[in-house]
Amino acid sequence: MIRHGFSHLRSHPLASTIAALCLASLPAAPAMAIDWSGVPAKTVVLTYPGQASWEWVLTKTDHEGAEKFRGGKACRECHDDETLVEDGAELAKGGKLEPAPVAGMAGSLPVKVQFAHDGSALSVRLQWKATGNDAKQDSSYAAHAALILADPSNKEANRAGCWAACHDDSEGMASAGAAPQEKYVGASRVKLSRQGGGAGVKPAADLQALLAGGNYYEYWTAKLKTDGSATAEGGYILDKFHASSASKLTSTASFANGEWTVVLTRPLASAGPGEVALAAGKVYPVGFAIHDGHTKGRYHHVSMEHKFAIDSGTADFVATKK
Ligand code: HEC
Repeated sequence: MIRHGFSHLRSHPLASTIAALCLASLPAAPAMAIDWSGVPAKTVVLTYPGQASWEWVLTKTDHEGAEKFRGGKACRECHDDETLVEDGAELAKGGKLEPAPVAGMAGSLPVKVQFAHDGSALSVRLQWKATGNDAKQDSSYAAHAALILADPSNKEANRAGCWAACHDDSEGMASAGAAPQEKYVGASRVKLSRQGGGAGVKPAADLQALLAGGNYYEYWTAKLKTDGSATAEGGYILDKFHASSASKLTSTASFANGEWTVVLTRPLASAGPGEVALAAGKVYPVGFAIHDGHTKGRYHHVSMEHKFAIDSGTADFVATKK
């Protein structure tokens, strides 16, 4: 569209130079182009998980849904959004799954979610009312907004969202011990027990094969300050977190009237290994996580598995061109 405006200059010998200079001075903010008022929105109710890890979920004596989940059911077939609101409120107060509760921690957090693209980049907009609590765990950032997405072939992500990356021996979790792990994909470990996979990481060649086969999570994070500054970090989770230097993830944020508005944007074209290849018509698993009120680590609110598609598909969110 913009180029047409310079068509009258084409015959001039300096035309292309002038056009290039003019184009260069135009603001290059693709995310700004999206008019979010026209994008369908859904509210996803995030819940407080305490120390309910992947291994907890899979253990019959811990979790009533364990057997059926192992048998093939997805989390959301039993827990659609609202169903864990009461559990989250109980968990946040403290107990078996939360030995060190934070005063005033909310049990759940409703987040308004929108997906759209502009033909070159995918944007996800997240909005929520700040809980107003201050956990005093993170003095640098008031909140973090994050999501994980995965390849359509990733079975665990399809059935359990983020949960399959959250292990019992990860930092702050029940089996963390003296050498806590970061988040990881179960298949990156030689063996998984009720305590998780520990330091038994598979050889590099096996990890490469998992990466090539879509068995990893891509993550998008924005670290937020109430002045509206947002710091984006993109990468992937395999044997641990890998921040990607190739990532072109960007984020914008605002905080007004007690409400956060955060937009995370990534080019549709993948920057390489660890970034999911995005194509029209395919359905991708996605999970959301918010650290509200200066929290860190497990003190966040998380969603069950959701799905998004680009342009068309049967999913919670269909990102169409805006
Ligand atoms: C077959 C049904 C079923 C499936 C599938 C299932 N659950 Fe559950 N889950 C239950 C039941 C039943 C309970 C106990 C009643 C309740 O608290 O809602 C429960 C409780 C929970 C709790 C609350 C724990 C507490 O003590 O407060 C969490 C968290 C949870 N499930 C997470 C998950 C996750 C994550 C998945 C998928 C990885 C999952 N569940 C899959 C049936 C299921």
